[in-house]
Amino acid sequence: MDRQGVAVWDRFVRSFHWVLVLLVASAFLLPDWRIPHEAAGYAVLALVLARLVWGVVGSRHARFADFLASPATVLDYLRGLAAGRPRRYLGHNPAGGVMVLALLALLLIVAGSGWLSETDRFFGVEWVSGLHAVAANLLLALIVVHVLGVLVASLLHRENLISAMITGRKSVAEDAIAGEADAGEAEMHSAP
Ligand code: HEM
Ligand code: HEM
Repeated sequence: MDRQGVAVWDRFVRSFHWVLVLLVASAFLLPDWRIPHEAAGYAVLALVLARLVWGVVGSRHARFADFLASPATVLDYLRGLAAGRPRRYLGHNPAGGVMVLALLALLLIVAGSGWLSETDRFFGVEWVSGLHAVAANLLLALIVVHVLGVLVASLLHRENLISAMITGRKSVAEDAIAGEADAGEAEMHSAP
């Protein structure tokens, strides 16, 4: 079968992802070490806000319009997954798109509530620190599901999604990708 390397994740998305992983891990590992914890959290907030902008102006597969699918498409993908025959997508698959949105939203809530808990207005307010702790635990659970999802999708699609997030390229069979007129030319069709 003709297999071709296709550029999928741009430099911003790749750097965003791995710097985010380092910062979130530091925030979780250093909850009692105030200054590094808060600095990592503020950096997460800035990164996620930048990612939201990149989701509108960024390269093809970085855009929300590329990977936010309707509930019906998500269900369809999950049915295929359960049957062991998920459709292939060059960018995030429909279930991955939901996960990306959920992760970004929770990251905003966790970092935002942490920030609020340090402001004059909300310092010492119980619901704000409560929200921070609960949302951080939810985020941790979601990260576990995210990593499991990446591993399962990698196995079922027989492609290494982790190395794709490092190199930016995917080596995928051209005829096996849903939603792509010509996977080999995906880079050239950068218009929406
Ligand atoms: C702190 C932990 C993590 C967070 C907050 C996180 C968050 C995210 C986010 C927001 C995206 C979407 C990327 C984008 O479009 O900008 C993503 C994608 C991805 N992440 Fe993570 N991630 C974490 C840990 C990991 C780890 C440990 C791995 C590797 C095992 C990993 C592998 C991936 C891969 C492969 C994708 C692309 C999935 C696809 O091909 O659709 N992530 N992650
Ligand atoms: C991704 C970013 C962040 C993560 C994952 C995170 C995670 C956590 C976790 C797990 C705890 C322990 C909660 C508990 O069980 O008591 C904590 C506590 C705390 N965090 Fe964060 N945090 C983040 C961002 C921030 C930011 C931006 C600030 C402030 C500028 C902040 C301020 C605090 C403070 C003051 C505490 C201790 C008191 C409390 O529970 O409210 N955090 N954080």
